[in-house]
Amino acid sequence: MTAQRIDGKAFAEGLRAKVAALAATFERQAARKAGLAVVLVGEDPASEVYVRNKGRQTVACGMASFEHRLPATTTRAELLALVEKLNRDRFVDGILVQLPLPAHLDELEVIAAIAPDKDVDGFHVINAGRLAVGQPGFVPCTPLGCVMLLKDRLGDLSGLDAVVIGRSNIVGKPMAQLLLAESCTVTVAHSRTRDLPAVVRRADIVVAAVGRPEMVRGEWIRPGATVIDVGINRVPGAEPGKTRLVGDVHFASASEVAGAITPVPGGVGPMTIAVLLRNALVAAYRNEGLELDSAAI
Ligand code: GUN
Repeated sequence: MTAQRIDGKAFAEGLRAKVAALAATFERQAARKAGLAVVLVGEDPASEVYVRNKGRQTVACGMASFEHRLPATTTRAELLALVEKLNRDRFVDGILVQLPLPAHLDELEVIAAIAPDKDVDGFHVINAGRLAVGQPGFVPCTPLGCVMLLKDRLGDLSGLDAVVIGRSNIVGKPMAQLLLAESCTVTVAHSRTRDLPAVVRRADIVVAAVGRPEMVRGEWIRPGATVIDVGINRVPGAEPGKTRLVGDVHFASASEVAGAITPVPGGVGPMTIAVLLRNALVAAYRNEGLELDSAAI
């Protein structure tokens, strides 16, 4: 069997088009643009790329982008003061503090300082709690993007066996909560899981989010399963000095067995920013007390 490729790039483009249409409606109704603030502390090169792309796509969707670039020497008090200022700014609907932060700053403390109703990353404990108990709130962008791709491919997920590999706060745990909310039977596997290949082989849905290049092999996959690869790992390329991106799944062997699989790049990656823009737009509608048809997005 050769798996169908799940085209996250195309899906993300479609989602951004819907966001752009609704952002235009929002601007007419609220007499201002929806606004997303991004805070970058220090000069991590990968974060620079993310932040630049976020800014560009925010503007391309007709929303306002407020970028705050702070030096790596920024103190805890300075960063918390900026977050507080953004919390109070009525033109800022969503706030994202780019992670990782320099080691002297406490990420959990900074996330806790963001107003939960502007926490478009869905990282605040209030939003994690809302997700756990089934209340509306903000859901982390990458797992929400994965669920959108899964529902697009499979329709109703009810009753399916899902294995999530990885238990991070950003992907693994919210992914498990979302799949549970879709009535999947969910297993969360991690570095201490015994006989991981046997656990993965039971799954109709495999979500790999461990950050280990090509760890999940084709032999582990149940024939016809849907495989979502969240990993983005840079490894040495074929030519000396060159690198290439691979996922957490060994794509060549897994696509021989799976029914459908996300490629890296071009699978889950493009979904993250598209969902972020979607979350920021939802925040804007809520902040202005305007109706948004959630089925439209
Ligand atoms: N760093 C890498 N991805 C993300 C993300 O989705 N949100 C934040 N805040 N930081 C990140």
